Amino acid sequence: KQVVFSAIQPSGTITLGNYLGAIRNWVKMQDEYSCIYALADLHTITVRQEPAQMRRNIIDAYASILACGIDVEKSLFFIQSHVPTHAQIAWILNCYTQFGELSRMTQFKDKSKKHADNINAGLFTYPSLMAGDILLYQADKVPVGADQKQHIELTCDIAKRFNGLYGNVFKIPEGFIPKNGARVMSLQNPLNKMSKSDENVNGCVHLLDSPEVIMKKFKRAVTDSDACVRYAEGKDGVNNLMTIYGAVTGKTFEEIENEFAGKGYGDFKTAVGEAVVEELRPIRERYERLVADKGYLAECYRKADEIAYKISSRTLDKVMKKVGFIK
Ligand code: TYM
Repeated sequence: KQVVFSAIQPSGTITLGNYLGAIRNWVKMQDEYSCIYALADLHTITVRQEPAQMRRNIIDAYASILACGIDVEKSLFFIQSHVPTHAQIAWILNCYTQFGELSRMTQFKDKSKKHADNINAGLFTYPSLMAGDILLYQADKVPVGADQKQHIELTCDIAKRFNGLYGNVFKIPEGFIPKNGARVMSLQNPLNKMSKSDENVNGCVHLLDSPEVIMKKFKRAVTDSDACVRYAEGKDGVNNLMTIYGAVTGKTFEEIENEFAGKGYGDFKTAVGEAVVEELRPIRERYERLVADKGYLAECYRKADEIAYKISSRTLDKVMKKVGFIK
């Protein structure tokens, strides 16, 4: 079986964007691939976190991902900071990643504008830690949203550079980006991606929002004055709602246009809201049960942490030997 690897940062609640862009594919890929997933908690401290809140976020995110349908009998789902090989390989890969390459990362440029008071070295070298995550498991495919494409390309460049120097150490991975849902935008500002840190709470739908809150957010979603449900340039708000509706129902843009021909945006927004409510309802119910059982969650991640350590150590040992470290 081919190997799939992906990870998510447990920084705040998981969004509809995370779900449609990535996690839904994590779930779908479980039967066909050997899947390895992680909570990238080391990545979250590139932005300052409050310790008690961070601990809660990690548990909430772990329970939420299981609630989405990650099955611990089929897939590994571990916590990055519990597996020391990640921090170890990140240091080594830092020494094979160029300053210029990291400077070109658009996420770094965006985040250093947003957190201008804390442009730390970790924020800058974040992509080499991410490359290490992927390369440790010799992953074939990496299911992510469109915003991670550049990081995956850099991962491939680092891997090829290393292989060029030392022989075939790393498998060259490939991004797996969904056709529909790869870039879910804010409901309030459809030119920005939907994100946990949206200043406008109505812009972002959280996985665990109640049905009432979800409906309210969709009813308030920004559209345009054209009053026609069609996918077209300049209709960013409507395009985004069509993307979400299509991703959830499996309908094509043409089918959606026909369904709402002659109808107003009110009907359309209600339909999108209802579809999302139904998609997320079972997840929220499973989450409530899972998060109440901290013992079970700990059992799940401890088992996965240990296996992830064994698998990743094989790659790390090889890397260290090739570079010239002694045992
Ligand atoms: P993170 O935690 O920001 O996001 C997790 C996943 O959700 C996707 N995503 C979106 N997809 C569509 N629309 C959106 N609005 C949206 N927002 C987020 C992201 O593309 C991602 O797939 N660096 C990664 C975490 C990471 C990782 C890795 C991923 C660490 N190591 C190794 C893959 C492989 C991140 O910050 O994702």
